[in-house]
Amino acid sequence: MNSSDTVLVIGACGQIGSELTLALRQIYKNVIATDLKEPEGELKESGQFERLDVLNRNQLAELIQKNNVTQVYHLAAILSATGEKNPELAWRVNMKGLRNVLDVASEVGIKKLFWPSTIAVFGPTTPMKNTPQWTVMEPNTIYGISKQAGERWCDYYWQKKNLDVRSVRYPGLISYKTPGGGGTTDYAIDIYFEAKKKGKYTSFLAAETRLPMMYMPDAIRGTIELMEAPIEKIKVRSSYNISSMSFNPREVAESIIKVIPGFEISYVPDFRQKIAESWPESIDDSVARKDWGWKHNFDLDAMTKDMLEHVPSGVAVH
Ligand code: NAD
Ligand code: SER
Repeated sequence: MNSSDTVLVIGACGQIGSELTLALRQIYKNVIATDLKEPEGELKESGQFERLDVLNRNQLAELIQKNNVTQVYHLAAILSATGEKNPELAWRVNMKGLRNVLDVASEVGIKKLFWPSTIAVFGPTTPMKNTPQWTVMEPNTIYGISKQAGERWCDYYWQKKNLDVRSVRYPGLISYKTPGGGGTTDYAIDIYFEAKKKGKYTSFLAAETRLPMMYMPDAIRGTIELMEAPIEKIKVRSSYNISSMSFNPREVAESIIKVIPGFEISYVPDFRQKIAESWPESIDDSVARKDWGWKHNFDLDAMTKDMLEHVPSGVAVH
């Protein structure tokens, strides 16, 4: 780690960026947050912000050069559920945005680039349980298709241009600071807010739909550990499987009932059910554990306890 590095975060106002940027500011003096939308609260007050559309290649190159940026975290994307409503936009932001970042990063000689992939790169023909690092990948959402293509681009830039790109396939991420960004796994965020606000929740996924999930503190720590790992430890340049827990809506409700005994759940599956059914139930992350020492801390009950301590009462879910 060189704390004099200048770090650029693209998509810094989203669910992950709003927490990752603050964590990076604990390590690095210069962390520039960028997004289409304005930052709020601590994110706004804690450091530099620039408005950036990642689709604008010239603006991106200028910002990186002007500020002598040495590391980039590229988080801007359109997630699965929003992507199915607007496939053109999802393809443009997820693909063209990544190509712009890869091109500019290799042209100006960025030291390291982080770009997240997702469990959505897998599809209905993938083995669903304990999904291996390398397996059949036939995603059937535009989000998954764009992320799978993105993984190939990252590996290509590593192989052909020696660009130090690092990536993990995040599972559904659960957090309380910033609302979910339009994903299929967002029910597992909303359920905690509604539990505190109303004591009941209607899930848009069916009771037994099991998906891989992770609490945000594990995701943030793991991301920074991946980026700080010595280069020789990073053997996978597409994206690493990482995992911590898998659960379905019934099980998360049971976990909440241990803290809020009267909590009630009902189920009205919508279009996101089909997306969820095409994704793995659980993930084999042994390669990440072996290569760079990935490990998780939170299981379902530990996360539930922490979420319910932090989610405010009487606050609307977005
Ligand atoms: P999010 O939707 O909450 O945040 C994305 C941010 O990108 C938003 O603030 C948005 O304003 C910004 N953005 C969108 N288009 C932009 C553009 N053209 N230029 C600049 N900024 C733009 O998403 P997130 O949950 O924080 O996800 C961040 C990354 O992690 C994404 O690549 C996503 O695919 C990946 N990921 C997230 C999860 C999850 O559960 N949250 C799981 C797997 C992978
Ligand atoms: N949480 C994300 C989504 O549901 C998975 O990448 O879209």
